[in-house]
Amino acid sequence: MDKLRITGPCRLEGEIRAAGAKNAALPALAASLLTEKTIALSRVPEVQDLRTMRKLLEHLGVDSSGSDEVLELRHAVPSEYDDAPYELVKTMRASVLVLGPLVARLGHARVSLPGGCAIGSRPIDQHLAGLEALGAEITLDHGYVTARTRPDGSGSPGRLEGARFRFAAPTVGGTENLLMAATLAKGTTILENCAQEPEIRDLGNLLAKMGARISGAGEATIEIEGVESLAGASHTILADRIEAGTYLIGAAMTGGEVTVRDAVAADLAPLLELLAECGCDIETSDSSVTVARTSELRPRNVVTAPHPGFPTDLQAQYLTLMTQASGTSTICETIFESRFQHVPELRRMGADVEVHGNVARVNGPTRLTGARVMATDLRASACLVLAALAADGESVIERIYHLDRGYEAMELKLHVLGAGWRVERTSEDHR
Ligand code: EPU
Repeated sequence: MDKLRITGPCRLEGEIRAAGAKNAALPALAASLLTEKTIALSRVPEVQDLRTMRKLLEHLGVDSSGSDEVLELRHAVPSEYDDAPYELVKTMRASVLVLGPLVARLGHARVSLPGGCAIGSRPIDQHLAGLEALGAEITLDHGYVTARTRPDGSGSPGRLEGARFRFAAPTVGGTENLLMAATLAKGTTILENCAQEPEIRDLGNLLAKMGARISGAGEATIEIEGVESLAGASHTILADRIEAGTYLIGAAMTGGEVTVRDAVAADLAPLLELLAECGCDIETSDSSVTVARTSELRPRNVVTAPHPGFPTDLQAQYLTLMTQASGTSTICETIFESRFQHVPELRRMGADVEVHGNVARVNGPTRLTGARVMATDLRASACLVLAALAADGESVIERIYHLDRGYEAMELKLHVLGAGWRVERTSEDHR
């Protein structure tokens, strides 16, 4: 298992380019199941979760071929398999995104139920209730969920049927699954109380290029007029706001200055507003965002919330930043029930953080010191990298396969930002 050895302190300074968003690319790949024509995707990030999604799609009969620039996917002849097996779903919960497209196109799908994960129990009840509203029959057995459409007059699987469905609470994956499913349903679907994350807007743009009739993707209410079939399309994946946000917080954390090219400032607004309140200098243009810290950091409280609120995927990194602020701040996590697993690791580096329920209280500023720490999930790994960069001395971050799930070429980008020899990947045998 690989580890990252980081020798701090190190000031991040320079310019990097945002990768394509992992969480926009995952549903975009799944959307290839909706058509027999080719979907060509640019800026698909080179990260483990996307490799897993490609593997799952290949299992389902999708041909995929890619150069560095464009990934082409074609589901010309659906395979005999309509299932997402446990082995893949357990390593990546986003596998559940194949459920909606498969049942919409084939009339049946079988997907392993995702279990709990490091950040919470994460049920998919809303995905299933939505598909039921569109006329699918859902059964659960042996850890799998099976969805089937009603047979048509000739006994073949029929189409889903448009309906009005209101999510009990906004869910990103649930909205994406239902949005994809409804594109091929008979009649009009109205989805209410949808998640409004930018990645949903991006999926809506791709589906529209494929010929889907959608209005409101990325808003609370989405209306979809179903069509009989969808065409091929080319699409460039949206920039990764969470990756960009992580490096921008890195600039604030290390007293540096980082520019992320291709980042969409509007999608980063909840973070940028907060960083400005903390005393950072922010500059944005149509094609880049820069964050610099030249003075003391002020503490600011935050509550995570569905978009346009502060993203849970930046909570660990922001909490880590607050260890460097002069005073006390509170971080309230409202999306996932156990997303503070980075706190005990940060404490090993000297951070002064107490957790009570879903609220963390951070007392700063603390001088962090390098330590051996363990990554527990993707964003927790990123926060440990930021802490290690700011800390005095050597840190070794174990289990960085979590990091590799969602950050493209992180060491390379840190090198570009001046970390050089201070960041080094080692494998088990080296130490
Ligand atoms: N939820 C339900 N029932 C459902 C669906 C969700 O109760 O049917 C709950 C979840 O348990 C959670 C909340 O609703 O408490 C929000 O979950 P959501 O469905 O929005 O999350 P997701 O689709 O599973 C995506 C991202 C996550 C990100 C969340 C929230 C992808 C592939 N994953 O997950 O990204 O944290 O939205 O923004 O898009 C990450 O990249 O590190 C990551 C975890």
